[in-house]
Formats: sequence, C-alpha cells, structure tokens
Amino acid sequence: MQVLTIALSKGRLADQAIDLFEAAGYNCQVAREKSRRLILEDEAAGLRFIMAKPADVPTYVDYGAADIGVVGKDTLLEEGRLLYEVLNLGFGACRMCVCGPTALAGKLDSIPNKRVATKYPRVAREYFEMHKRESVEIIKLNGSVELAPLIGLAEVIVDIVESGRTLQENGLQILETIAPISARMVVNRVSMKMKAERINPLIQAVRRQLDLNRPAGGGPASDREE
Ligand code: PRP
Repeated sequence: MQVLTIALSKGRLADQAIDLFEAAGYNCQVAREKSRRLILEDEAAGLRFIMAKPADVPTYVDYGAADIGVVGKDTLLEEGRLLYEVLNLGFGACRMCVCGPTALAGKLDSIPNKRVATKYPRVAREYFEMHKRESVEIIKLNGSVELAPLIGLAEVIVDIVESGRTLQENGLQILETIAPISARMVVNRVSMKMKAERINPLIQAVRRQLDLNRPAGGGPASDREE
C-alpha cells in the first residue's frame, strides 16, 4: 500500500483535523499521541502524520514532502503556493481584516501613506496595492500585532479576528474585512495523480462527513466559499 503523508498544523487545527479524519473512518490514533515526536506513523494503515508549524505546511506539501496538508486559508493566502485546495474543512473559522483604533472607523481611505503592521505582509500588500490601488508601508511583525497601533508603530493592522476579544480589549475594531478564513485540505499536485487511489477516497470520505455535519438547509459544507 502507498503511504500517505499528511502534514498537520501543530495546535488546535491538528486536533480538529484528526477528529474529522476519524469521523470519516480513518483510524488516526497514532496522531493523538501526546509526545514531542514530529513523525507519527501507522504502518498498517499506510498513514504518516507530520506535525509542522502552520506556516510551513504549504511548503512541505508544495515540495511533496507531504502529500496532503491541513492548514488555515490565512497561511495559504500568505504563502501563495501552487497546491490543490480540495476541501474547505469549516473549522478554524475567522476573518482576515484591516483593524485599527475606533476613531478611524469610516476614515481608512482618508489616511495617506499608511503604515500597516501585520504577520501577513503578502496579504496586506495585495489588499492595499492590488485591490485598493493604494501604496502603503508594510511592517512585518510576528505576533501581538494589535500592539502596533496602540504604541504608534502603525496606523492600522491586517490580522485575523476570531472572537473579536483581542480587538475589543485593546480599543480596536474591524475597519474592513478582507476575506473569510477557515481550515483547508490541500494536496500536492504530483501526489494527486500518483496516489489518486488513496487520496480520492480520503477526499470523498471527508467530504461526506462534512456534508453530514452541515446544518440543515445549508449547501454542501465542503463547497462553502468561506
Ligand atoms: C490571533 C490573531 C489575533 C487573535 C484574534 O493571535 O493574530 O491576535 O488571535 O483572536 P480573537 O479575535 O479571538 O481575540 P494568536 O493568538 O495566534 O497570537 P499572536 O498574536 O501571538 O500571533
């Protein structure tokens, strides 16, 4: 049997991905092991899980070091790699937004030469320069991005907003929404052909499970845009 290598984003997305694969009929017990091992393999099932930093998952899949990845759409947008994005898994839902002090509500376009602090420089640049045709200064940060407008490093930030609590507790708010975000299943372009007999049934089983989970009256969960 061909071994399938699945790159999971260490943290919450990994746990939810494992739950979903198991519900879809794949035994992922090995991936639940609470250890520091980074490769977890079930030889009999022909499954190998690698536990990667979320931002590195698209890289492993692009190079074929992993056949499949589960990763947030935010990371996919930022990495911009050529992968097959086969399923919207629904969990990890949040929004990519431009945020700033409440005083800037409705005034975003009137601030010239804005400084934009973000963990997502590519997303921020594309949004302001390609979409809004505005030139801005992008300042790359690695976390706690909400600090930047509070301390005068930037006028606004581009970041993901989940509950909105971080913004609220720091006197910030959403000024514009760039894109809905959630976890996606991605597949390496060569693996999709070379391991089709293993990958296609997995995609179908996960899609069926997502459709079972979807709220009554909604379209197929796996086809939702966000
Ligand atoms: C993320 C994001 C926001 C926060 C949003 O940060 O960058 O700061 O979560 O969540 P909320 O809307 O529910 O408050 P993360 O927790 O990943 O930490 P980081 O800022 O160090 O990257």
